[in-house]
Amino acid sequence: MAAPERSPALRCEAVRKAFGRFVAVNDVSLDVAPGEIFGLLGPNGAGKTTLIHCVAGLARQTSGRISVFGHDTVSDFRQTRRMVGLVPQEINFDPFFTPLESLLIQMGLMGVEPDRDKAEALLATFSLSSHRHAYTRHLSGGMKRRLLIAKALVHDPKLLFLDEPTAGVDVELRHELWDEVERLRAQGTTIVLTTHYIEEAQHLADRIGIIHRGRLLVVDDRDELLLRHEGRSLEQIFLSHIHGADAHAAAQ
Ligand SMILES: Nc1ncnc2c1ncn2[C@@H]1O[C@H](COP(=O)(O)OP(=O)(O)O)[C@@H](O)[C@H]1O
Ligand SMILES: [Mg+2]
Repeated sequence: MAAPERSPALRCEAVRKAFGRFVAVNDVSLDVAPGEIFGLLGPNGAGKTTLIHCVAGLARQTSGRISVFGHDTVSDFRQTRRMVGLVPQEINFDPFFTPLESLLIQMGLMGVEPDRDKAEALLATFSLSSHRHAYTRHLSGGMKRRLLIAKALVHDPKLLFLDEPTAGVDVELRHELWDEVERLRAQGTTIVLTTHYIEEAQHLADRIGIIHRGRLLVVDDRDELLLRHEGRSLEQIFLSHIHGADAHAAAQ
């Protein structure tokens, strides 16, 4: 199915995801433009991972519509799966595979021909070449994180989700990962990053969305958000939105 010209990289329209009676994602509408870095900021349990899982096809929304470059993630799942990459929040590889094997297996899972040269190129990009034959359980934390990103890139996704990529990593690795995100963007990849580190969103994101209790409270250009709340840090802005929503919920 042909997608219209200049479709947004991601479009969520009134997306809702319920687990039984609990609503994890509540009426989220959002567009992400091609080539942008969008930071989805929210406390634990806000619904960030659930929303990403709906886009990546790991879960299906209860209602609403999601499209990736104009393709519906439900009716056009094969197309969108090819375009979306996900660096998951949890490290999830088999500890007995080597980095090289992990990448080749991932290619198979993503429906692309396993390609040794491409796998080697990814290992080189992520400084893993010398560990290509090591058990992944023997890799350092930083190497594991880098391998997770490499795995997400085996099929050259146009839209990449990084779900809390720097949770629990040290400062040096955090900066390394930030450089990597900027490099990917320079190559034209659209990036959606979730984080609860305000500083990370402030450093990387062109636009910021604040999500809390499943609801998207604000979406704004980073600089305009800061300008509109002149004199306040992003952290103060974030907290005032969260507290405002909590007070509103308590009053109901
Ligand atoms: N499979 C599930 N079944 C029931 N509740 C879930 C499930 N997955 C997530 N949740 C709940 O949905 C809410 C949002 O979770 P999540 O999307 O992981 O938040 P975040 O990634 O922002 O920390 C949480 O309260 C979580 O407990
Ligand atoms: Mg999460």
